[in-house]
Formats: sequence, structure tokens, C-alpha cells
Amino acid sequence: MDHKNIVSFYYQHNKYKHFSLLEILEKYQIKINFQCRSGYCGVCKITLLKGQIKYYREPLASCINNNEILSCCCIPVENIKLNL
Ligand code: FES
Repeated sequence: MDHKNIVSFYYQHNKYKHFSLLEILEKYQIKINFQCRSGYCGVCKITLLKGQIKYYREPLASCINNNEILSCCCIPVENIKLNL
């Protein structure tokens, strides 16, 4: 595993409750690939190493494996650790 791409994210619900994980990462100028921003293409997938997220829109992309998440249609529900 390449450790230079691991990001720990301390989730602050009151501050970020209206943003997707993708939008939150963009606010911190963390570059994530994306395309549709709506769960179709799978381009925004990242690996969740620790913590939990929830989808506010059901992802339609079928290319995600165990521990992979689509950042454009989910939010963290606790502190998370990601491999980008
Ligand atoms: S950007 Fe297309 S699924 Fe997230």
C-alpha cells in the first residue's frame, strides 16, 4: 500500500452536513477524479480504510469492490481514513 495517498479525515457534521465527501475533499484542495458526480460512472471511487460512510444517493456504478466507495454520493458518519 502506498502510504503517501492516505488521508485521515476528522468529520465535523455541523460544518459539512450539506456536502458530499467529494465536495468536502475538494474544499480541502484534495484532488479526486470525478466525472458524473451522481453515482453513475465510478470515476470518483476511493478506498475506505477506516470508519463509515452513508450513501444519500444509491450508487449505480457497478465497478466498486469491497472497501471502495463513491465519494460523489456519500457522506462520512464518523472520522474516516481514506486511501486516495
Ligand atoms: S463521479 Fe461518477 S460516480 Fe462519482
